[in-house]
Amino acid sequence: MYQVMLFLHIIGALALGFYLILPFVLGTLGKLSLAGQEGTVSAVKTLNRFAQFGLILQLLTGGYLIGQGNYSVPWMIVIVLLFLAIGALSGIMGKPLRLALEGIRQNKPIAAEEGKLRTLSALLSVSVLVISFFMVFSTII
Ligand code: HEM
Repeated sequence: MYQVMLFLHIIGALALGFYLILPFVLGTLGKLSLAGQEGTVSAVKTLNRFAQFGLILQLLTGGYLIGQGNYSVPWMIVIVLLFLAIGALSGIMGKPLRLALEGIRQNKPIAAEEGKLRTLSALLSVSVLVISFFMVFSTII
C-alpha cells in the first residue's frame, strides 16, 4: 500500500512539474503572435487546472505517507505552508490567465496581466522546487 501511495504521490509531483518550467513558457509570451499568445495562455489555463488536481492528489497521498513514518513537526509545518502557498498561488493565477485570454481575444494590451503571471509563475516554480527538496531531504529539519 505504501508503495502504491508513493507511486501516486510521484505521479502528482510529475503533474506539478509543469510549474517548474512555467516561467520560461510565459517568458516567451511577448515574442509570440496574437494567435500564438492565445494558444499559449489557453494551454497554460488548462494545465493549471490539471495541476490543481495533482495538488489534491499530493495532499491525500502525502497525508497517508506522513502517517506511515516519523517526521518532525518543523518539517510538517514547512510542508503544509509550502503546500498552501502553491495552492494559493495557482488559484490566484487563474484570474490573470482569464483576463489575459480575454484581452488577447479583444486585441487589448495585456502588459499588466503578463507582469502578474510572470511574478506568480516564478513564485510557484521556486515553491515547487523547495517543497521537492524538503520531500527528498525529509530528515534535514
Ligand atoms: C505539493 C507538492 C509535493 C511534491 C512535489 C512532493 C514530492 C515528493 C517526492 C518527489 C517524494 C519522494 C521523496 C523520496 O521518497 O525520497 C515525496 C515523498 C513524500 N511526501 Fe511529498 N510532495 C508534495 C506534497 C506533499 C504533501 C502536501 C505531503 C504531506 C501532507 C507530502 C508528504 C510526503 C511524505 C511523508 C513523503 C515520504 C518522505 C520520505 O520518507 O522520504 N508531500 N514527495
